[in-house]
Amino acid sequence: MRRLQQLGGKTRAANGDEVDALPRSTVSTILRGDKLPRSEFVSAFVTACLEYGGQPPEKVADLTEHWLSCWRALYAAGVREGAQGSDARDDLTGEGPKERSVPRHLPPDVRLLADREGELRVAEERFRRQPGGSVFLVTGPVGVGKSAFAVRWAHRLAGDFPEGQLYVDLRGPAGPLNSEQALGVLLASLGVHEEDLPADPWWRMQRYRSLIASRRMLVVLDNACDAEQVRPLLATGEHCRTIVTSRNRMSGLVAREAAQRLVLDVLSSQAACSVLSAIIDEAYVADARAELEELAELCGHLPLVLRLAAVKFTDRPGQGFKTFVRTMRDGSRLLALALDGDSGNSIRAELEFSYRRLGLDAKRYFRKIGLVDPTGFTLETGAAVAGIPLAEADRLTEQLESEHLVTEIDGHRFAMPRVLQVFARGIDGRPDEPRTLTLVCSG
Ligand SMILES: Nc1ncnc2c1ncn2[C@@H]1O[C@H](COP(=O)(O)OP(=O)(O)OP(=O)(O)O)[C@@H](O)[C@H]1O
Ligand SMILES: [Mg+2]
Repeated sequence: MRRLQQLGGKTRAANGDEVDALPRSTVSTILRGDKLPRSEFVSAFVTACLEYGGQPPEKVADLTEHWLSCWRALYAAGVREGAQGSDARDDLTGEGPKERSVPRHLPPDVRLLADREGELRVAEERFRRQPGGSVFLVTGPVGVGKSAFAVRWAHRLAGDFPEGQLYVDLRGPAGPLNSEQALGVLLASLGVHEEDLPADPWWRMQRYRSLIASRRMLVVLDNACDAEQVRPLLATGEHCRTIVTSRNRMSGLVAREAAQRLVLDVLSSQAACSVLSAIIDEAYVADARAELEELAELCGHLPLVLRLAAVKFTDRPGQGFKTFVRTMRDGSRLLALALDGDSGNSIRAELEFSYRRLGLDAKRYFRKIGLVDPTGFTLETGAAVAGIPLAEADRLTEQLESEHLVTEIDGHRFAMPRVLQVFARGIDGRPDEPRTLTLVCSG
């Protein structure tokens, strides 16, 4: 510490000015003392000195972690912290005594997860093959069950991460936490007090990396918006793993961070029926198997829509299940329910944000594609419906695909989930684009 003091607890601001990272008086008091300083102090001071000494960022993170591991060794050996360090243990762990100190922040396990055992096995197999620090991406269309899947998976893996599981809901495109806010959440989970949070985003990231570098931790970043948002949040330590969920395919994360991508598809007909019958009393559907399958189909086999439909029926079961399905045959009624369900479930706002992120040409294409036969379309159909060249339809389909607004269903056909079709048809087109519902067979 004294060697570092010679370097000074200084750092450089973005404009190159030299500034004190820590008050000089605090540094002197702590270095004069004969007790262990707080781990927070060690991290801030060492990082400031190295930064000021012109060390590159990787070196700063490594050396800061080295000093923190020395701190941990001293602490474990029984050296007690001084007045400045009365909550030193909390700094590292977030709570108190050892057994209570491990952060276990996953949401409750999802018990009724239909039809995902195969994907879970694939995911676990890949997980075992990848080295420490790897990133796993769960992606797929809106409401297909990405978050539920990731939470289930993380619970199954929790035993391999005895030093904790961190979770942060990045809130999707509608109300995203930016990386800086998310780092604040992660650091708080690691026991860093709000008043000790570095204001500068880069410092936050360094602090986060330092704190988890040598710990066996699993980090779940749920409902991410794009690769830029999650990059600073990835747990890069060799004993860590990160699971990210997103509607965005995040090709950048696959390319640059070698993220392992798992794409979830809608449920099989049988599994979709089982989601419905897990909520609807057996007595109502015992003699209505065909209607049950029809309702599952109307819901596009999407778990979110299936659950909303089942709950809708159980709100007023007196009408009878067959009558209910009949009233839902106008698919738009059912899917409007999914779009505008209660605030916790409404996906309209989310979709509007995804839609607004598209360029003008992709927006127009999306609206046009929404009019196409729900069973799927080819690029030729897309080009014809939108009145654009084939190459342009290819480019725009690719854009929609990367946001999971359309899905490839075989080598040359694509489909838009029904709920998205209803959404697309409800968007006001520009005056030059009358919203005629011309159905086009995709052949
Ligand atoms: N396989 C499944 N079986 C039964 N219910 C499921 C399944 N998958 C998801 N669900 C339920 O469906 C609802 C939507 O799932 P979830 O929030 O995981 O979807 P998502 O793909 O993450 O949505 P979004 O695109 O909005 O992030 C939740 O209530 C969830 O518990
Ligand atoms: Mg989700």
